[in-house]
Amino acid sequence: MDREAFREALLAVMESKEHPSWPAFTSGRVPADRLHLHLEQEWGVYIRDFPVLLGRAYVQCPLPEVRRDLAENLYEEETGGLGAGRPHPELFLEIPAGLGMDLQRFHQVRLIPEAQAYRGQLDAATVQQGWPIAVAVTTLFLEGTPHERHLFDPSAPARPEPPLEDHPLVRHYKLPVERLALVRAHRDVEGGHRIAAWRMVLDHVPATDRAAVVAAMEATVVAWSAYRGAVASACGVQ
Ligand SMILES: [Fe+2]
Ligand SMILES: [Fe+2]
Repeated sequence: MDREAFREALLAVMESKEHPSWPAFTSGRVPADRLHLHLEQEWGVYIRDFPVLLGRAYVQCPLPEVRRDLAENLYEEETGGLGAGRPHPELFLEIPAGLGMDLQRFHQVRLIPEAQAYRGQLDAATVQQGWPIAVAVTTLFLEGTPHERHLFDPSAPARPEPPLEDHPLVRHYKLPVERLALVRAHRDVEGGHRIAAWRMVLDHVPATDRAAVVAAMEATVVAWSAYRGAVASACGVQ
């Protein structure tokens, strides 16, 4: 697989990281008293542990250039020291706190079966399969969006960034806008993480590992999609 085919295959995976249930979450159709299920599962399945998942990629990687990008991302995610000012997982909890949810539920979250399966895929990809897959699944898949192509092609749609006052959680669920500190921080610092992610994967993953990276990304999006479907059902979305 040449570099161009590799990039196209990865972009195709990212473009499939869209679930038909998502508009129900952004249009206020998920009942307010079920929204905690979505936030708790997101927290437990990857947000709480995202710095650890990145760290697993870091410790496996023999290439200093890649480790430097991972270390910078890890430091920001774990501490907020380069931008956000606080650890990103901690900033996420501002959202359920601002919605008046019981945070105890987050500290004792039990993953639904499809979330456990998705987490199993994330653990396998970050522990057992070598640094190229660990880097791709954490920095490309988990941090990335369906709009990655815009990084390479300005005519491709960019990720929409409406004013925070128009964020669905503010509009439909009355979240005080200052609780969107994580969204604000991501708009500031994650652009750099997107560029670094593609640099690590396209410039440093050995050509002989490209097919395995694409296969792992495809397995991840399949597990993610089943997880999103199950969360939607739990939230009462058909
Ligand atoms: Fe990041
Ligand atoms: Fe982050």
